[in-house]
Amino acid sequence: MASYAPSVLFALLSATTAAAQGLTWAPTPLVDQHYPTPSDAPPKVWPDTPAYERGPQTGYNQCNSTTEGQDSLCQTMYFNGLDDFCLWAPPQPNTTIADAEGEVVAWCTKKGYGTRIMTEGTIKGAQLLKSNDYWMLTGIIDQTKLYIQDGDYGGELDSGSQDGRGNPIGGLVYSTAFNTSVYQVNWWTEFIGNNQFCIKICNPDSPNQSGYCQHTLDRIGLGYNCPSKYTVGGGYQEGEFEVCDTQNMAIVGEYTDASGATQSYAQPAESLGPITTVPYQPTTVASSNCQQTASSVLFSQLLAGSGTTSGAAPTGSAGASGSQTGTASGSKVTGSTASGSKSSTGASPSATGNGASPLAAGSAISAVVGALALAAFL
Ligand SMILES: *[C@@H]1O[C@H](CO)[C@@H](O)[C@H](O)[C@H]1NC(C)=O
Ligand SMILES: *[C@@H]1O[C@H](CO)[C@@H](O)[C@H](O)[C@H]1NC(C)=O
Ligand SMILES: *[C@@H]1O[C@H](CO)[C@@H](O)[C@H](O)[C@H]1NC(C)=O
Ligand SMILES: *[C@@H]1O[C@H](CO)[C@@H](O)[C@H](O)[C@H]1NC(C)=O
Repeated sequence: MASYAPSVLFALLSATTAAAQGLTWAPTPLVDQHYPTPSDAPPKVWPDTPAYERGPQTGYNQCNSTTEGQDSLCQTMYFNGLDDFCLWAPPQPNTTIADAEGEVVAWCTKKGYGTRIMTEGTIKGAQLLKSNDYWMLTGIIDQTKLYIQDGDYGGELDSGSQDGRGNPIGGLVYSTAFNTSVYQVNWWTEFIGNNQFCIKICNPDSPNQSGYCQHTLDRIGLGYNCPSKYTVGGGYQEGEFEVCDTQNMAIVGEYTDASGATQSYAQPAESLGPITTVPYQPTTVASSNCQQTASSVLFSQLLAGSGTTSGAAPTGSAGASGSQTGTASGSKVTGSTASGSKSSTGASPSATGNGASPLAAGSAISAVVGALALAAFL
């Protein structure tokens, strides 16, 4: 199972990943490479030599004040809390995750890591679920502000990948979640696209970090890999930011069948075509001690303004979204009000990511269909 971990969410990339199956597996895959603290990180986890079939690593792992800024190619990221996390996203505007999975870079909510900084209005709502075994953050975004093409259904980025070198190739993740100071997390996964995201990190001391941060179910999407109210449960609203304790989710892919037996789902080979049914529905588990915070308090270091070139999703003056919640609008006032967003709201992320339509089984499958339709244009 570990020898083949495609990192694309949907069938969109079937040609690429089919070819990728023949890739040489790295002798020491990324999940087994230990750089305990950020100062232990090498210049690049994967130097240019020896060369691999996929690559080379396009960014770097030693990141500092010199590398910080919107041209940063830093591939070392952090996930320390609801107010302090990064997402992997493309280095160039208007890019699909499928096209950039090996090259994505860190975009962070805080300065000081040598990375790019997110723009105001990128994160529109999020929930952090904490257990001893993992932390999982899911939420809704304006993906164009992270240089992801408008309408892209996205995919999975993780510490596995086609050749064990990760997506991005050489990506490192650090966190204070499971330790008194920042420490490497080897098993992590991110799903991003369709104006939704999930980032999940697994405790190195968990009895099953490879199960909770499974890398092999990329094609069935967020709901199955990151079940939350954002991805299967519903009941969230834009502008809401919360942290909760949670019971452990089921090991990703494990479910109970009609006879009560535990089963383990494996993705069919891509050569068998699109996935049209999955034998179970993802479900959320109980959470408690939820604390809510306004985004204006959480995200004080974001860049102002209209940064992106996409024009597809300005958020500043789209009063409709701001007026519902107050908090979301607070942090947006400064920047992008100039962008005439009167009509663009309709085409904006809120139409898809924010609707009452969590990406449950049914919509994951329609996303596959959508991705196939897109593939026709490639
Ligand atoms: C900052 O990071 C860059 C890129 O990794 C590296 O070349 C440079 O030596 C670093 N500078 C310091 C002062 O650590
Ligand atoms: C926490 O950090 C210590 C070193 O300070 C390390 O030995 C230990 O493995 C870390 N534990 C986890 C769960 O990261
Ligand atoms: C860990 O998860 C995997 C699925 O990824 C499963 O096969 C295995 O039995 C689990 N191990 C434990 C100890 O629960
Ligand atoms: C993004 O790229 C697509 C396809 O390459 C193109 O059709 C579209 O106009 C681009 N959008 C922007 C905002 O540049």
